[in-house]
Amino acid sequence: MAEFRLPANSRVQPGREYKAPAGATRVRTFRIYRYDPTTGENPRIDSYELDLDRCGPMVLDALIKVKNEIDPTLTFRRSCREGICGSCAMNIDGVNTLACTQATGDIRGDVRIYPLPHMPVVKDLIPDLTNFYAQYASIKPWLQTRSPAPPDSERLQSKAEQEKINSPSACILCACCSTACPSYWWNSDRYLGPAVLLAAYRWLVDSRDEATGERLDELEDPFRLYRCHTIMNCTYTCPKGLNPARAIAEIKKMIAARQL
Ligand code: SF4
Ligand code: SF4
Ligand code: FES
Repeated sequence: MAEFRLPANSRVQPGREYKAPAGATRVRTFRIYRYDPTTGENPRIDSYELDLDRCGPMVLDALIKVKNEIDPTLTFRRSCREGICGSCAMNIDGVNTLACTQATGDIRGDVRIYPLPHMPVVKDLIPDLTNFYAQYASIKPWLQTRSPAPPDSERLQSKAEQEKINSPSACILCACCSTACPSYWWNSDRYLGPAVLLAAYRWLVDSRDEATGERLDELEDPFRLYRCHTIMNCTYTCPKGLNPARAIAEIKKMIAARQL
């Protein structure tokens, strides 16, 4: 008979509980996924009670406080603390987002924190993004030209041309969208996913790029592009307010247009 449960060694167990310090005035509980594959132990959920009157306002502030003052083994990525680097992407309160821009005060009840879903876990809140970055490299995310550059100037764009790449260039490659996409969950070995397709779109609409045909040839594939079923999770979850679903639809239109 088919079994629809996680294998026994993947089931999440109750973890340790760290109580709030005496005299805490505004206590919130952070329930955080913990997993260290080197120990052979199952993943667990540890609970940390923090006094919000002694903690910064963002979820990343809480994680840093836990690491600095309670449990130095807690592992997560972060760098800029400004929503720019994309490294603190994780699943908070059931939504993929950036810990540094997610205010704790906007979450009701306990704050549940997991790594980005459906990715191998390196440790605790750190997903293995090796495949994600390899897929990004596969779309050749750089300007490709055939014609010689002007001898005395850069390759210029009009304001209207620049505006086409403005929004897709704002992607910080946090992977929130791809790891919210059901098609990517099941086919991430062959489907490129919304983040990488948005990046591909950014070069397709760059007026200076001269490899549009080759780029479309590479994308015209039942898996690399057409596993997108317009479920829109990607656009709903993007912490930068971008619209990868629309970019994917535009790529499909570009491919359809050249067949007419
Ligand atoms: S619109 Fe496409 S890429 Fe976005 S979540 Fe849905 S299937 Fe995934
Ligand atoms: S499109 Fe948005 S969610 Fe996806 S990688 Fe870029 S910034 Fe992150
Ligand atoms: S730490 Fe850079 S985006 Fe959150």
